[in-house]
Amino acid sequence: MSKYLHERRNSSIAVGSAGQVAVRDLVKRYADVVAVNGVSLDVRGGEFLALLGPSGSGKTTILMNIAGFDFPDSGRIEISGRDVTWMSPDKRDLGMVFQRYTLFPHMSVLDNIAFPLRMRKVGRAEREKRARAALQTVRLDGYGDRRPAQLSGGQQQRVALARAIVYNPQVLLMDEPLSALDKNLREEMQIEIKHLQRKLGVTVIFVTHDQTEALTMADRVAVLNLGALQQIGAPKDLYEAPATEFVAGFIGESNFWPGIATSDAAANEQLAVQLEGGEIAQACAATPLRKGTQVRLAVRPERVRLGPAAAGGVGGTVEEAIYAGSVTTLMLRTKGPILRARLSAGDETAEPRPGADLSLTWRPQDARAYPTS
Ligand SMILES: Nc1ncnc2c1ncn2[C@@H]1O[C@H](COP(=O)(O)OP(=O)(O)OP(=O)(O)O)[C@@H](O)[C@H]1O
Ligand SMILES: [Mg+2]
Repeated sequence: MSKYLHERRNSSIAVGSAGQVAVRDLVKRYADVVAVNGVSLDVRGGEFLALLGPSGSGKTTILMNIAGFDFPDSGRIEISGRDVTWMSPDKRDLGMVFQRYTLFPHMSVLDNIAFPLRMRKVGRAEREKRARAALQTVRLDGYGDRRPAQLSGGQQQRVALARAIVYNPQVLLMDEPLSALDKNLREEMQIEIKHLQRKLGVTVIFVTHDQTEALTMADRVAVLNLGALQQIGAPKDLYEAPATEFVAGFIGESNFWPGIATSDAAANEQLAVQLEGGEIAQACAATPLRKGTQVRLAVRPERVRLGPAAAGGVGGTVEEAIYAGSVTTLMLRTKGPILRARLSAGDETAEPRPGADLSLTWRPQDARAYPTS
């Protein structure tokens, strides 16, 4: 995203708290399941935040508590600086789009879009004018008289989007809105929603379990696991510096290699790790570590550098080379686990053949050490 947009956004935050969403120490249990376990989030006005996590990690529960369709056991929800924790959904100034299109099948597209305005007692002429404008915003002018069943999946989801923005809410909540669409349409809609969000300046909280979708669309991504917030940050920060072992494995791909810290290290400090199998490798502490702590190193396949055997680093033998067009993945036998390394097409180095002995190195910052206990 351009620097200009960032600045504009930041300056609008300074003026007021419009569109800010704060989740404070949210806890939600269902019988003996802790669906959300003390999550706090600060979403800036005009920001696009993705909630990303595996199935059952608490994404929908957080969204339902923000929307007011569900209420917390403890904690607070604030929207634009107001405590809305116990307020009904219609008083929260937000729009919602769900996975299923949830359009009224017996109403025309235009009436579907105008429905929230009718609920808000907006007059007929004004309703129609605003519904037509929303229809145009989602590029469906001319479709107003159809029934939802006469539209494609992508078009229906655009109608749901138009209905959510027709009363200009400051916050838009979306729960896997694209998951019913096929890949091409989904990618098209991702870009469309992103453009629309920038144009309207609306805050978006977007639930997905698709990491590519989250990284593509969001200004920041909040990663959840088992109802707990693992990390929140810009896509690049999550990829380059995962805060937890879970994030290292969930965002992108990582090799994991167990070992023991050979010295104390502060967070982000370099240290030597004695790897399972006996070799020593340089790494970077993800959190403060004590000498002797059991750790796991996470190294991304594309950050493993290959050199001639015995050129330093750890030893590896090519077991298999898997060609996939733009990249080739090497499976390397080591004294520890099997490591994956990735070569881009057009790499200068010739592709090693199965059986070749190599030395494997990485920059210390590309091997993050996480304590295992
Ligand atoms: N109404 C409910 N009654 C009982 N348990 C529930 C209810 N809603 C959610 N849960 C449980 O709470 C946990 C979190 O569910 P939630 O729907 O928030 O997950 P999610 O991250 O949205 O998952 P998915 O990606 O599958 O949609 C799960 O273990 C789920 O089974
Ligand atoms: Mg869900």
